[in-house]
Amino acid sequence: MDYSNIVLDQPEAGVYCLTVNRPKALNALNADTLDEIAAAIAQVRCDQAARALLVTGAGEKAFVAGADIAQMQSFGPADAQAFSERGHRALRALEMLPLPVIALVNGYALGGGCELALACDWIIASERAMFGQPEVNLGVVAGFGGTQRLPRLIGRARALELLVTGRIVKADEALRIGLVNQLVAPERLRETGLEVARTIASKGPVAVRLTKQMVQRGQDMDLANACQQEAYAFALTCATEDQKEGMRAFLDKRPAKFLGR
Ligand code: CAA
Repeated sequence: MDYSNIVLDQPEAGVYCLTVNRPKALNALNADTLDEIAAAIAQVRCDQAARALLVTGAGEKAFVAGADIAQMQSFGPADAQAFSERGHRALRALEMLPLPVIALVNGYALGGGCELALACDWIIASERAMFGQPEVNLGVVAGFGGTQRLPRLIGRARALELLVTGRIVKADEALRIGLVNQLVAPERLRETGLEVARTIASKGPVAVRLTKQMVQRGQDMDLANACQQEAYAFALTCATEDQKEGMRAFLDKRPAKFLGR
């Protein structure tokens, strides 16, 4: 598939990398870019051999510096609602993709860019990364899930402080408050992402997919029902050849060879 605003490549077997590619505008998300992100996610979703997705931004300076202010400037309420819903559709598809999605934040992750990173399963960031929800500086509310996913990740008080002050958080603080899982030197970011993706790709694929689905869907359920779902998922994994192979390999003291079925 041809994309103009993103690049979707497969650096290794089973590992996809989606790069937002508008470096002159610091990778700002316009409507076409959001649609291309949604299309790329659908493409990855169709590939049964996909094991992990990395999401990053082109260039040295930015992951994504927000939704496209030039495009939003003339919005009235109806355009704004449609744009916000477009962003929600793309980011929800990312969140619900049944494989781990890791944001590799190489620079500014502001507004819609921070929200894109928040829709990934976790964030690995360069020591130069900066995060923030500066929408209030522009007189608007965060529109791609920032008011919802940020408090769920770092807690209500910290999130609200960032959302209403627009304060920019540097990488070390982002790590301390749990926004980011890991910091690495800028030149190590892609390789670190690939190492993690490789580790994931070496595990039982059905187990990895179901684990993500349990964590995602369980968050919207009460504990008793979520644990019941987990029991079903556990049962399902015990219907796979991979479960037989994984447990036999452990007892034989050798690495498992998983087939994804
Ligand atoms: N939208 C559109 N263009 C953007 C952009 C954005 N969010 N962020 C940067 N750009 C463009 C600039 O307009 C500039 O373009 P020109 O070269 O054509 O002038 C280019 O990218 C480089 O940016 P700067 O010259 O501003 O670079 P800088 O190093 O001086 O500053 C920055 C970097 C601090 C990230 C600054 O660009 C900035 O503050 N950007 C806006 C951040 C922001 O407010 N994001 C939130 C947007 S609202 C939103 O996201 C709503 C939502 O939740 C849906």
